[in-house]
Amino acid sequence: MANIILLGPPGAGKGTQAKRLVDERAMVQLSTGDMLREAKTSGTEMGRLVAEVMDKGHLVTDDIVIGLIEEKLQTHAPGGYIFDGFPRTLKQADALGELMARVGETLDAVIEIKVDDEALKARIVGRYTCGNCGAVYHDTNHPTKLAGICDVCGSHDMKRRADDTENALRTRMLAYYRDTSPLIGYYYAKGQLSAVDGLAEMDAVAGAIAKVLDKA
Ligand code: AP5
Repeated sequence: MANIILLGPPGAGKGTQAKRLVDERAMVQLSTGDMLREAKTSGTEMGRLVAEVMDKGHLVTDDIVIGLIEEKLQTHAPGGYIFDGFPRTLKQADALGELMARVGETLDAVIEIKVDDEALKARIVGRYTCGNCGAVYHDTNHPTKLAGICDVCGSHDMKRRADDTENALRTRMLAYYRDTSPLIGYYYAKGQLSAVDGLAEMDAVAGAIAKVLDKA
């Protein structure tokens, strides 16, 4: 059992690897991106505001995402929690430490998925997901076996994200380097950081993450 953070820029493979860990280790994925995308479709004023910010590639305010994580920390997680896309600022990192202490949990590892920035654009622009089960695919790296049909659940409902455009990606990358990358030093100094090569094949990335988890 381990509680981990997957840290990396847009397209690093956080969601792809988190979903494997859910299947293989009974871990619970807490993706603030997925939670916010759900909020976007809620039809509420909050959902409309979140959509405006997210679709341009900016970060949503700390208080909103900290509140979302606080709610989800009540979920039963026999294999541990995977924090995917959270924390993204130093304020969120401090809040996570406090929330974990409050529920009697510890953070066991922070795994940085390292990638080359040039590779990210192709990954983001080629990505699509199943609207029913959330499985993640890519036009060339990881297409569905049958065109347009999800390998996992058989749904035909394939979606592309509104923020997977070149313009929004530029803003997301800026937000990553300005607000999120300082967390690499923060967790290194706490002795919790490990890094894996995110440019390797998906199975190799999963193997490197498994090694970190087995030592945690
Ligand atoms: P979020 O949903 O968290 O997006 P992100 O961090 O930009 O990351 P992505 O989901 O784009 O990439 P990923 O690393 O999960 O890559 P994936 O596995 O899909 O956040 C979206 C927005 O929500 C933010 O911009 C912000 O507005 C808001 N938000 C979220 N959390 C927030 C927070 N805490 N605070 C404030 N705002 C917040 O892979 C990408 C593609 O590459 C896929 O097609 C996949 O098949 C392919 N691929 C994956 N691994 C490999 C590999 N090893 N080799 C080849 N291809 C691969």
